[in-house]
Amino acid sequence: MSYRPFSANWFTGSRWEGRIAYGADYNPEQWSRSVWDEDVRLMNEAGVNIVSLGIFSWARVEPEPGVHDFGWLDEVMNLLHEHGIAVDLATATASPPPWLAARHPEILPVDRQGRTLWPGGRQHWRPTSPVFREYALRLVRVIAERYRDHPALVAWHVSNELGCHNVYDYSEDAARAFRSWLRSRYGTLERLNEVWATDFWSQRYGDWEEILPPRLAATFPNPTQQLDFRRFCSDSLKDHFRAERDVLRSVTPAVPVTTNFMVMSNAKGMNYADWAGEVDFVSNDHYLNPGPRALDELSFSAGLTGGLAGGRPWFLMEHATGAVNWRPVNKPKKQGELGRDSLVHVAHGADAVCFFQWRQSRAGAEKYHSAMLPHAGEDTETFRAVKELGGVLAELSAVVGSSRARARVAVLFDWESWWAGELDSRPTWLLDYRREALDWYSALIELGVVVDVIPTDVPLERYEVVIAPVLHVVPNELSERLHRFVEDGGHLVTTYFSGTVDEHDHVWLGGYPGALRELLGIRIEEFGPLFEAESVELDDGSTGTLWTDRIELTGEDVEVLASYRTGDYAGRPAITRHPRGSGSASYVSTRLGVVGSERVLRTILDRAGVVSELPEELRGRVQLVIRHDARRQYWFLINRTERDVELAEVAGTEIARSARSERGGATSVIPARGVVVLEKPR
Ligand code: GAL
Repeated sequence: MSYRPFSANWFTGSRWEGRIAYGADYNPEQWSRSVWDEDVRLMNEAGVNIVSLGIFSWARVEPEPGVHDFGWLDEVMNLLHEHGIAVDLATATASPPPWLAARHPEILPVDRQGRTLWPGGRQHWRPTSPVFREYALRLVRVIAERYRDHPALVAWHVSNELGCHNVYDYSEDAARAFRSWLRSRYGTLERLNEVWATDFWSQRYGDWEEILPPRLAATFPNPTQQLDFRRFCSDSLKDHFRAERDVLRSVTPAVPVTTNFMVMSNAKGMNYADWAGEVDFVSNDHYLNPGPRALDELSFSAGLTGGLAGGRPWFLMEHATGAVNWRPVNKPKKQGELGRDSLVHVAHGADAVCFFQWRQSRAGAEKYHSAMLPHAGEDTETFRAVKELGGVLAELSAVVGSSRARARVAVLFDWESWWAGELDSRPTWLLDYRREALDWYSALIELGVVVDVIPTDVPLERYEVVIAPVLHVVPNELSERLHRFVEDGGHLVTTYFSGTVDEHDHVWLGGYPGALRELLGIRIEEFGPLFEAESVELDDGSTGTLWTDRIELTGEDVEVLASYRTGDYAGRPAITRHPRGSGSASYVSTRLGVVGSERVLRTILDRAGVVSELPEELRGRVQLVIRHDARRQYWFLINRTERDVELAEVAGTEIARSARSERGGATSVIPARGVVVLEKPR
């Protein structure tokens, strides 16, 4: 892995050394020159020390092919530097200028129905277009060479949210690239026919040229073809990232390169577990998903980002001070949420807190999207909260460079299972992979347990309990690792539809859950999915929805933790636990929701000897996330409720809180929608 950790020496040589990076996307090209002076003045006032610049400026820096205008960008770079603000400089390739699409309409993506995605929005380029790639890399080189020695430059920001709008392209370029991707994956057509099981429905290929992306078809396209197409799309964008990165590295080997991931808002298309090793530091954009689970989802996503970063510090590249503009209804944040959300990211390892964007646009599609400096100007609650957050982040300088302390419990997150489990032609279309993973995560927080979210390639033996919700795709290697984990004393919990297929989406034969059947000591002959409004009762008081299984116990000593009381499988096991080696493997055959999952977890955690670090009265109301360095621990206590929570029982010295308390100074209360950070010796 080429990962160069993002750390305290990030700002070496600048006056911001050792500070949490604080800032935003900055789009000065949308404003007249006089506004820039006010921008830097207010940035200084707010404690902003970094901006991402030039993300959508291709049309300005290259107004005609090969003709460049950097005068304005030079001036902005200089102005920022004079004010002590570092620059994460974009390669400006996110959105091609009109002249490029007019000259080369063959760069435009095509959807699965064959419709062209025209210019007028943004990101209208095919990830596999050789023409786009050539123009983009040429621009990247010009920019890199121009700013290589600029003192404001601290990092490169490749493109922007790669795949946000253009991940699935079904064009001729995509077809060509898909074929060559398949050739290098499978070598021979014979092997591809075997893996895609093309004897089904007369799909056997006799020539590579016959193969297409899964375009709109009469009915379900071949599932392995669909799964491979997803892998290919993720790889194509990753390849684009690498191409830009390599140009940058050749010009400025010492400047770290990143691109902003989208864990989780729009992240299904990109297998970030596979991308994380390609960036010099992980960065992420996160937008709150409004609703009752918003905070848990935020924490889950930040936790997964920390997992992708291997527990090391990462960069929050974008989030929102208030409303976004792209949901059907866009509500502002409530008082306190701006600071709270920022500190939740810091808790999970973010050493940077940045927003989209610095100054709210006056025109364009994002004019109703919040920003650090709103339309109403500096005399606003938002700007006051922004300034306050700048102060809070300065107080948190001690945590910079510290890593996330490893939890004893982890939830596995697997893009391949997400992709394959939610394909069409499955036992149910109602399965929502992320929702299931989030349920287990919330249940653990309810129990007051510190939990990591990790991709499947992380060594499992670091954990005592691993929850693997809907781990649908289990290749041999993963199956072996899970077996070893349990044999060596780990406690595994998995759910319905897990272990079912191999990496080619071929079913493991002999009964479900296939690859995990023997480990779990159970056998399932057929699945029993439930209709949307249907539910079943379990004899432990839980309610199951979505799915049920007819379980046969095959292992020795399999313990039935709960049985179905109602439904087609009444009287049969619903939740089982199989002691194996010095560990155990448990199976949950229905969707339990947060409350039901909590009940199962209580038993499993108890047997594993995992207890909450939080005093009883805080469990559920407060989430604990821990960072640490060689000498100290930093306890981030996140209030999950809408009321103040008394902190009395927790030892440690308060070093920061997400908002200064109205009572002034440190108090023993975590305010509603607040986070308190305590320092303790390690
Ligand atoms: C992100 C994007 C930004 C901005 C933001 C608005 O997806 O990177 O450029 O559009 O969303 O929420």
